[in-house]
Amino acid sequence: MTNTLRDPGLASEGHRKLQWVRERMPVLAALRDRYQQTRPFAGQRIAVSLHLEAKTAVLAELLHLGGAEVAVTSSNPLSTQDDVAAALAELGVEVHAWRGASAEEFDRFHHRVLDLEPTLVVDDGAELSERLHGSRQALLPNVRGGAEETTTGLMRLRALARTGQLAYPMIAVNDADMKHLFDNRYGTGQSTWDAIMRHTNLVVAGAVAVVSGYGWCGKGVAQRARGLGARVVVTEVDPVRANEALMDGFEVMPMLEAARIGKFFVTVTGNRDVISRPHFDRMADGAVLANAGHFDVEIDVQALRQGAIGTVAGRTEAMVGYRWPTGATLWLMAEGRLVNLAAGDGHPVEIMDLSFALQARSLEHLLTHPLPPGVHPVDPAVDRWVAQTRLDALGVAIDQLTPGQVAYLQSV
Ligand code: ADE
Repeated sequence: MTNTLRDPGLASEGHRKLQWVRERMPVLAALRDRYQQTRPFAGQRIAVSLHLEAKTAVLAELLHLGGAEVAVTSSNPLSTQDDVAAALAELGVEVHAWRGASAEEFDRFHHRVLDLEPTLVVDDGAELSERLHGSRQALLPNVRGGAEETTTGLMRLRALARTGQLAYPMIAVNDADMKHLFDNRYGTGQSTWDAIMRHTNLVVAGAVAVVSGYGWCGKGVAQRARGLGARVVVTEVDPVRANEALMDGFEVMPMLEAARIGKFFVTVTGNRDVISRPHFDRMADGAVLANAGHFDVEIDVQALRQGAIGTVAGRTEAMVGYRWPTGATLWLMAEGRLVNLAAGDGHPVEIMDLSFALQARSLEHLLTHPLPPGVHPVDPAVDRWVAQTRLDALGVAIDQLTPGQVAYLQSV
């Protein structure tokens, strides 16, 4: 097994991060105990494309301890933590990733992972599935299925399914209650503001924070901004979601208006060109632009680069100031890539415990309950198991339905 790493010498730092995380993911710990006994993935080869930071490494380790051969790359060129990658490679998992991969390297690393000839895939953004249905179709007969982490990846997979091309079952982990209600909302909310604050060191209280998109991720980003004391403005294209934002107590207006008053801008729409040249023209000096959506298309970075009359280095490498012809300097974070991973550590540990437990349990479920090609929901029993296991770990008890209540619910 060969690995592609920036520096294997970074492993000891990576092991410290892994240990911190391992001890704080009780749902994965419950699975680890069981998998070491039962080895449900014995004989499986699992290809993984997820943001390669410590929580992801703990999931990969778990799948390996469960008996699988595992190869991992990162689902974003900027989200690999090189120390974590080095540590993971020492744990018997094949790793092809480094932070700052070029587009060509990013593609090559995905192909190296696919060289494992996977029987199962774990995707974040459907990068593996796209290649398996493109230039790597020869590998399709091996693939028993997989699981997808994100809203964006599911859009890509559903497009394949609509044209009858999706060749294997993919479990929509993103849509499980124990995923999107927590990861998308509380995870994106906290990790996005963590990244913005650690790199800008600016106060959010009293500032205008413009959140574009009011899906689960946008709700989380807006809620956390309010918690930090910001005046929060939401921009939306969906009238239902716009009403939801209004009733949640946020201001709603078009981006052209919001551009004039915002200090912090966060895009979480899943769409392109949400902030573009006409908006840059209206922004005040010092505006901070961050994207928390999967792809780096939400802020029109090309227009920013082309229209700027110069650049200024920021206080960290994650920030570049673009000197705009209006006299304003506009600060772009993490090249417009998803800020919470490209300039942070991703979602909090306890949140990824839930998402990754759903990943592992969904793969296990696929092996015991084979499904036809297509996009399938997470089995409700798996979702409930994750919820209950977390409550048990927290020592939180809840009420049980009485037989009379069960009968009542069945009769109405
Ligand atoms: N860590 C690993 N994968 C992640 C994801 N999809 N979002 C946030 N943090 C992560």
